[in-house]
Amino acid sequence: MSISVRQWLQEHRRKSQFSGRLFYDEALKQHTYYQIGGVARVIAIPYTLYDLAFLTAAISQSQCRFFILAAGSNVLASDSGFDGLVIKVNKLTSEIGLEPNGWLKTGSSVKLPTLLSKAARSGWGGLEFLAGIPGLVGGAVAMNADARFGDVQQSVQDRLKKVEVAVLKENDTNQVETKEYSTDKLRFEYRKNLFLQPNEIILNCYWEIAQTDPKEIKTKIRSLLKKRKETQPINFPSCGSVFKNVTEKDGTKISAWQVIDKLGLKGAKIGNAQFSEIHGNFIVNLGSAKAADVKALIELAKQRAKNELQIILEEEVVYLE
Ligand code: EPU
Repeated sequence: MSISVRQWLQEHRRKSQFSGRLFYDEALKQHTYYQIGGVARVIAIPYTLYDLAFLTAAISQSQCRFFILAAGSNVLASDSGFDGLVIKVNKLTSEIGLEPNGWLKTGSSVKLPTLLSKAARSGWGGLEFLAGIPGLVGGAVAMNADARFGDVQQSVQDRLKKVEVAVLKENDTNQVETKEYSTDKLRFEYRKNLFLQPNEIILNCYWEIAQTDPKEIKTKIRSLLKKRKETQPINFPSCGSVFKNVTEKDGTKISAWQVIDKLGLKGAKIGNAQFSEIHGNFIVNLGSAKAADVKALIELAKQRAKNELQIILEEEVVYLE
């Protein structure tokens, strides 16, 4: 008979050198920006590569499902939770420092606001576009995060030079295998990467930066934060943009918020979830919203966009279910 991941971890933890944290039957709403989500069988927070190897063994011995969670800023977790192992990678690698060749090395667990304040103090220019994006470096890289505000038109792919990942595959050592993707292998599209495999976890990212006057960096960051504050609903929990912006067959670009507007859905509510009145492409949690409420709004918009406007809306939000 197969063993559950929880049983496996409980039986093997004491004899192992696992140094991270394990939470059993833990509410996902505590781990997502949305503050939504049922119970996960196990949430593991690995601190080291050894911890990752231990979790790899747990996955392979119990044959459980797993999900890699960063800060949870772009994720909608199901009301019925997750019957498997959630690996939360917010404490794995948090180094920030210059390399001899001038690239900036950042651990994937570094919070973007932490990176930006350090960059501003140190005069590391070029990453200002990340200002106001919640979450961790690893999440931003996986999603090819971007900012398009006036003269700031940049995405992760414009600055990223190299990525180191851990591969969750059992081997004979107590360490996971690591692997590098250098510039020619770092392929991206709008809001997605095309290189990471499902069993790979980002460890470190290397960026091209430009030595810049700290004052200039601070001014840029402040201006971006102001624009976000003016145009996006930051006072309620959300996952940021729900849908990707749309490029129609003839190449016309249309923002997802314009589609929501056209459908008259801005401000529409189901349960305690609402298409924000400030920005139609945000669905906000007005308080104790269910994932089902958010999903019902998403389905409503997709159906109506297809039937009434012949537009296919595609989710940007990632489902944890
Ligand atoms: N606007 C309105 N009404 C609305 C929404 C927006 O008038 O309901 C106006 C805004 O005031 C702004 C303009 O439309 O002047 C464009 O809006 P925004 O800058 O928010 O751009 P967007 O295309 O809707 C994209 C990203 C955002 C990112 C911004 C800025 C996607 C799907 N979304 O939004 O990403 O912050 O550009 O770079 O590409 C996220 O991923 O979570 C996210 C928020």
